[in-house]
Formats: sequence, C-alpha cells, structure tokens
Amino acid sequence: MRINLKVLKTSTFRLAAIYLVVFAVSTGAVLGYVYWNTVVLLQQQTDDTIGAEVQGLAEQYRQRGLSGLLEIVKERSKENNGSIYLFTNFVGRRLAGNLDGLPVGAVGKEGWIEFPYGIQTKNGPDKHIARAYHLQLAGGFKLVVGRDVAERRELARVIRTALFWALGLAAVFGVSGAFLLSRNFLARIDSISATSRTIMAGDLSERMPVTGTNDELDRLATSLNEMLDQIEGLMMGMKEVSSNIAHDLRTPLTRMRTRVEAALRTGKDKDQTEALQSTLEETDQLLATFNALLSIAKAEAGQARAGFVPVNLSELVEEMSELYEPIVEDEGGMLELKVEPDVMIAGDRQLLAQLMTNLIDNSLKYGRDPESNIPTISLQTAMIDEKPTLIIADKGVGIADKDRERVTERFVRLEESRSAPGNGLGLSLVKGVVKLHKGEMVLQDNKPGLKVSIKFNT
Ligand SMILES: Nc1ncnc2c1ncn2[C@@H]1O[C@H](COP(=O)(O)OP(=O)(O)OP(=O)(O)O)[C@@H](O)[C@H]1O
Ligand SMILES: [Mg+2]
Repeated sequence: MRINLKVLKTSTFRLAAIYLVVFAVSTGAVLGYVYWNTVVLLQQQTDDTIGAEVQGLAEQYRQRGLSGLLEIVKERSKENNGSIYLFTNFVGRRLAGNLDGLPVGAVGKEGWIEFPYGIQTKNGPDKHIARAYHLQLAGGFKLVVGRDVAERRELARVIRTALFWALGLAAVFGVSGAFLLSRNFLARIDSISATSRTIMAGDLSERMPVTGTNDELDRLATSLNEMLDQIEGLMMGMKEVSSNIAHDLRTPLTRMRTRVEAALRTGKDKDQTEALQSTLEETDQLLATFNALLSIAKAEAGQARAGFVPVNLSELVEEMSELYEPIVEDEGGMLELKVEPDVMIAGDRQLLAQLMTNLIDNSLKYGRDPESNIPTISLQTAMIDEKPTLIIADKGVGIADKDRERVTERFVRLEESRSAPGNGLGLSLVKGVVKLHKGEMVLQDNKPGLKVSIKFNT
C-alpha cells in the first residue's frame, strides 16, 4: 500500500496523535499501577504468612523444645502445598524439612532470602524459586521457612505481557484509526478543493459534495453551495439582461435600418444622404454587436449540442485560410498552414467557422509586427495527446499574463487596442463555442505574439 504522506499533515491526524499519546500514557499509568500493586501486595502477603508461621514455630520451640519443633516441621513438610521447610543441626545437616540443603544465602542470624531450588513434578525435575525466612536457634540449629513463589512470578509475568500488549494494540489501533480518520477527512477536503477548481475554471453549475452527515464539513459545503447559488443567479441575471436587451432592441433597430435605407434611396440632399449613410453604418455595427451577444448566449446555453455533426477540422481550417490568404498577402504578410489531415470532431460547423473567423480577425488586428505592421498568422490542426487540437498564433504584441483570463469576458478590450475597431465580444464568443464543444482553450505567449490552443474533447 502506498501511504499518502499528506494524511500525516492534517489537523485530524495531529489531534488523533495527541489523543493517542494521552491515551497511551494514561493506559500505561493505570496498568503500571495495577502491576506494581499486585506484585508488591502478593509479596507482602507471602512475607506476612511466612512471618506468622515463623512466629508460630518459634512459639512451639519455646513450649515444646527441639523435639516438638522437629515433629511439627516433619509433619508440615509432608504437605505438598508450596511450603518450604528445613531444619538443620550445627553442621548444616538436615534433620527435617523438604529442602535438600541449606540455601547459599542463609548465613548470619536471621533474614529474608530468595533462592532457586529443584522440585519433582510429573514431567521430571523442575527449577523453582522460593522466598524464605531463616533463623538461627540456640545450639547452632537453623530453621528455614518459605514459600514457592514461581506462581507469583508467573502472575507478574502475565501482567507484564498484558501491559505490553495493551499498550502495543492501543498504539496500532490508535495510529491506524487516526490514519483512516484523516484520510477520510482529507478525501473530503480534496473533493471540495477539486470542485472549487472546476468552478474557478468557469463551470458555475458545479456544487460542493455534501455527504448528508451534517458534520462541520457538510455545513461548510452547504454554505458554499448557497453562496454559489447566489453568485450563479446573479451571473445568469447579468447574462440574461444583456441578451434580453440585444433581443429586444434588434427588432426596432432592424426597422430603423430599413427606413434609413429607404430614405437613402429617395434622398436628394447631399448632407442628408451622408448623415443617413453613417447612420446606416452605425446601425449595422449595433446589429452586429447584438447578434454577437445573442450568439454567445446561444452557445453558452448549450442547446446547439443537439445538432452536432462530424466536422472535419482540417478541411475547415483550409477553407478559412483560402478566405484569408488574399487579405493577409495584400498586406505583405504571411499565413502559414500546418494541417494534419482529417482531424475530426463532433460539433456545429457554423459556430466553429465563426470561432476561427474571430481568432483570425484578432490576429489580423493585433498580430502585426509592431515595427513593420505586417501580420504573420499561423493556423494548425493536429492530434495532440490524442485530442483534436486547433492552434492559431501570431507574432504581434500578445496579451500580458494578467490579462489572459479577463480578455475572454464580454466587452473587455485592452487599452492598447482601443484604436482598432471592435467591441470586445470576439473572444467571448470563442470561449462560448469552446465551452459548447466541451473543449479547453489556453492563451499562451507565442514569443512574441499570442498563441491560442483549443483542445476538443470529442
Ligand atoms: N491576437 C491578439 N494579440 C493581442 N491582443 C489580442 C489578440 N486577440 C485579442 N486581443 C486583445 O483582447 C481583446 C479582446 O478581444 P476580442 O476579440 O474579444 O475583442 P475585439 O477584437 O477587441 O473586438 P471584436 O472581436 O468584438 O471585434 C482585444 O481588444 C485585444 O486587446
Ligand atoms: Mg476580436
């Protein structure tokens, strides 16, 4: 599995990690306390029992003398209950008890000792550990009273192992839990940022994913979606207003044009004729603007997609170049053609032709060498990354980085182009047509000049 390191940087993971450390420390403390208590308590208990027994035996010794003690020790040694006894004379020879010989540590007057000793079990001899109290009696006699502590040791070991596993498992589950939590969180954040990018790329109809759990991310996504609804509404309103104006004013304008034309035909006064002539030109200009606005609205509405047919982009580019070559050559310029044959897309032929016309028109207007004023235009079609691509480039002044997004908006014209005719709708229509064909358009620096690449996704 490839571990996504991004997960480790999320706030969820950090929180989970902190929680895990606190949890591990407190679990460790509780288990440690239990361990320590159990071990210490058991030892205390053993010591107490041994101590009581030693006291009892000492009492017997005082009352019944050596022989009484000897008897009791013999008696008790027979019971196989983990008790350990040894009674020796002054040379250390065993007189009674179930221990073979005096343990090494049993020197001095009296005290606690722990020592290994062998016992016989069903499976043969075994080594155990004993804890005992030894004391010296009058006449060099020695008494050792103890208990087998192998079980106690075993219990301590079990508790230690449990402690280790508990901490280990807590860590493993904690870390994987934190990892899963953060990955889930990260996936949702990622999908929100991916959606934002799509929206920023111009698809305002996209919405943030809402999972329905109503957690804080859901609430964030919901608010963002409400905001987007509002923005989209406003944008739609603006576009609608401009196309409504275009639509409503087109009819009276056309009527006016007809009347001006009629007046021109009958007009006799020279001044009047001139005035009518320029009015006619202005009217044509207005009509062209309104038509462009309406075409953009239509392209953006996406209805034309129903009438898509296979279009040979290469042929279309060749036709365009035939149309424009004479114009470019007239101006001493050059129209370069690089066409990979039969690059096909599904589309609206007329809108695609309009798209090319607008781009070539721009190159003619702004794609001239700043000194010689000669236009150089290159038209290209090719399959790039397995996608039908159209590239139109020139060697003019180009468009600065910061303006490349903006120039595709309606009515945006850059300051330096104010002298050329136009009203800033050409690239808006190009953008609309590209969107209609689900393509991607990038404006790039042609060093010098502008290079417009359109990649179609059909
Ligand atoms: N090839 C180009 N080189 C340099 N600048 C360009 C080029 N194409 C467009 N621009 C800049 O982008 C602006 C917008 O272009 P657009 O085609 O939308 O409008 P226009 O050409 O000014 O008017 P219209 O196309 O409506 O006649 C232009 O005014 C110009 O400043
Ligand atoms: Mg233009």
